Amino acid sequence: MDAMEKIVSLCKRRGFIFPSSEIYGGLNGCWDYGPLGVELKRNVKQAWWDDMVAHHDETAEIAGAPSSFGMVGLDSSLLMNPKVWEASGHVGGFSDPMVDDRETRARYRADQLAIYRLELVGSDGATERYDDVLFAAPGEVGKTEASELFEPHRKRIASLLKSKQGKEAKPVAVPGALQDEALRAKVLAPGASAPGTLTAPRAFNLMFKTHVGALEDNSSVTYLRPETAQGIFVNFKNVCDTARVRVPFGIGQVGKAFRNEINPRNFTFRSREFEQMEIEFFCRASESPQWYQYWRERRYRWYLDLGIKAANLHLREHEANELAHYAAGCADVEYDFPFGRSELEGIANRTDFDLRQHMQMSGKDLRYFDDQEPNEEARRYLPHVIEPSAGADRGTLAFLCDAFSEDEVGGEARTVLKLHPRLAPIKAAVFPLVKKDGMPEKALEIYRTLKKGFNVYYDEKGAIGRRYRRQDEAGTPFCITVDGDTLSAGSVTVRERDSCAQVRIGVGELGAYLGERLAG
Ligand code: GAP
Repeated sequence: MDAMEKIVSLCKRRGFIFPSSEIYGGLNGCWDYGPLGVELKRNVKQAWWDDMVAHHDETAEIAGAPSSFGMVGLDSSLLMNPKVWEASGHVGGFSDPMVDDRETRARYRADQLAIYRLELVGSDGATERYDDVLFAAPGEVGKTEASELFEPHRKRIASLLKSKQGKEAKPVAVPGALQDEALRAKVLAPGASAPGTLTAPRAFNLMFKTHVGALEDNSSVTYLRPETAQGIFVNFKNVCDTARVRVPFGIGQVGKAFRNEINPRNFTFRSREFEQMEIEFFCRASESPQWYQYWRERRYRWYLDLGIKAANLHLREHEANELAHYAAGCADVEYDFPFGRSELEGIANRTDFDLRQHMQMSGKDLRYFDDQEPNEEARRYLPHVIEPSAGADRGTLAFLCDAFSEDEVGGEARTVLKLHPRLAPIKAAVFPLVKKDGMPEKALEIYRTLKKGFNVYYDEKGAIGRRYRRQDEAGTPFCITVDGDTLSAGSVTVRERDSCAQVRIGVGELGAYLGERLAG
């Protein structure tokens, strides 16, 4: 099993993540969080809310801010007036080019289906190209895969190679081949028996359409929101009028988003239903470059502070040709997942694009009024926006992948999730060493006391070593064991998950001990 397979298997076996509606064969791109998974994901979202909204100014990071600022929260509806999505550009432009295979019925994102042609390379480096031997492969073609992908062309290549002794078959990418009808007709698709089965790329809108009310006609169409951000923009005026906020300030929101992804893949990484944690940060246009830098750094450091290894985390500034037409800057926080380096979060300088669009479409004045600005002409303006937009499911997956580790303890292999204590689903497990001599009663008493402050777990079944292993796999930072000394001397052993080191602590000190260590 490779690392990703092991993580998916652990998630299923221990109740972190299940395929959605599994007893009916599942639903592609949808996932359910089990008892441990729901705690983990809630902790990720809570950590984000605490650090970015509720207590955003209590962290040391505020020191890097150009000036002090406010943060408030919002919970907007999933369904909105469809004009929201016209103004935001999602109705007209939120689409991926899609290609269908008429034979296998597979559907691909055109930008993820690479087309290769055959080249024969001699030992002297001389090449011969064959423009009629084309095949399509999802993603990059490695050395071993290449030979497999040529397989349906095997007969043709074998006879070519026979007549050209000492030459080797090599795949060479042909950019733009899917857009060219003549070339597309020669392409052999993955799993197809003959070339020419792929359709031309077509725009495919990623929004899920639905109807509001009893009539299912064009007048009742709306969409499941594909991002939480627009709910913030359309409430900008409401928040300004009610929350006594002053620019610069941010509005944070956590909630579901839906995208009819052509190719959901890599476990929860690309799902059709997922959760976002988004901030729209409103500032003066002149200050937006500084705030953009601030939020890039702050969001990057958030993952490090929650335990992601620095070697696996990257901040990548977009090239100018990658930017949306309205964006003045964009950077991705990327993580080295077992399936490759991919985006965890985007931080964008969206200028005043969204507020301007909504102001035009709704006819409502969305300009901010600064009553303390001495220059009358500068009092009313549309703020610019910095948007740190993170995925709660992607974040949860990255924390899981980074925490997953295999080591050996006492000559035995163990799997351990080295999750940051703030994120761990269960904070501590309480065990009686044996199921007699009053130990279960004492352990239950400790469990009930601790439960008032922490998510703790009680377990008396099986050998103590096995109970430790089960908690290691669940990512539980501390195991508390009640033994003979607990009854006579009032102390317990506390075992730390990563080092397996044990200390003895008085029962009365347990709450303070855990409180201090779990805060991280
Ligand atoms: N408002 C900006 C916006 O939505 P995005 O880059 O499309 O930007 C932001 O999405 C974040 O949402 C991504 O970085 C990712 O973490 C998460 N996300 C987007 N599509 C996703 C999907 N299909 N499955 C899981 N997470 C997704």
